[in-house]
Amino acid sequence: MNVLGIETSCDETGVAIYGGERGLLANSLYSQVKLHSDYGGVVPELASRDHIRKLSPLIRQCLAEAGFGGPQIDGIAYTAGPGLVGPLMIGATLARSLALAWNIPALGVHHMEGHLLAPLLDQDPPEFPFVALLISGGHTLLVQAERIGRYKIIGETLDDAAGEAFDKTASLLGLGYPGGPALSKLAEQGDPDRYHFPRPMTDRPGLDFSFSGLKTFARNLLNSTHGSAEADIARAFQDAVADTLAIKCRRALQQSGYNRMVVAGGVSANTGIRSTLHAMAEKEGIRVYFPKLEFCTDNGAMIAYAGYRRLLAGHREGLEIQVHPRWPLDRIPPL
Ligand code: KG4
Ligand code: ZN
Repeated sequence: MNVLGIETSCDETGVAIYGGERGLLANSLYSQVKLHSDYGGVVPELASRDHIRKLSPLIRQCLAEAGFGGPQIDGIAYTAGPGLVGPLMIGATLARSLALAWNIPALGVHHMEGHLLAPLLDQDPPEFPFVALLISGGHTLLVQAERIGRYKIIGETLDDAAGEAFDKTASLLGLGYPGGPALSKLAEQGDPDRYHFPRPMTDRPGLDFSFSGLKTFARNLLNSTHGSAEADIARAFQDAVADTLAIKCRRALQQSGYNRMVVAGGVSANTGIRSTLHAMAEKEGIRVYFPKLEFCTDNGAMIAYAGYRRLLAGHREGLEIQVHPRWPLDRIPPL
């Protein structure tokens, strides 16, 4: 079964074709980052217009890469939420129209399930059940994943998402938008012993997170050091996020009794966070799985894969075009 995947929930237009046993047959991505950078964040209307411009050419490109005409596609998966309503509607409408023209099924996929399943695109994929830490620009979730579609949310952020905290702190440091990758690069030059940020909410039981205080802590330090310690502040901020995530993951693993963990979403591309979580996993005797770097941030491949698993299991939807800007991960049907 060949599934065309379409991702348009935010500021990346992602298209891919997943071909079952043959794996990923095509994958292309267009990032709108430049378009939004002047505004310091994503402008929804500009994002929608750019998805309209880029989506059809990317689909054509993927079909050519796989050596396909339309008829070899057996199903289409698109991100139906959560995300920005305009961008979601662009992807959903094109997906449904193509499916109607080609007389094949189309299925709306949950963006965070896409992230969660991204490590399953790997040669050596994790088996269920596992604990999933999903860290992106909009979400920070700890999930007990029993099988595809059976997700119990056991922890989440009470304020900023992990990626949001990176972006806001990066903005304070003058690193532009989205600043996560730039902050991470700056942190590499920082002295890890100069400053110590708090590890929020680790002094009490529970699996929830709170990251907004770290940004305030960074702002105060920045003001008192008069811009002479940016790299050290970036390093101390990143170490605090990494440690906090590791502490909560260890608790989640102990609570669930699972011995496998998946870490996915844009922030899982962060080298410091990867090595801290690897070290924790080794100490605890569990195995941690990350997606390939290109599948950490938003992409069409993870949507094609999630849709493939669901379409293969017989999931179908009616013809109406429905998107869900807010859509809890534990409200989607199990496989
Ligand atoms: O998953 P994603 O591409 O989009 C959402 O679903 O939100 O995640 C984007 C987020 C942004 O906040 C970005 O700054 C962050 O992931 N990010 C990083 C890194 N790469 C992307 N944060 C820290 N370090 C990185 N290397
Ligand atoms: Zn995402």
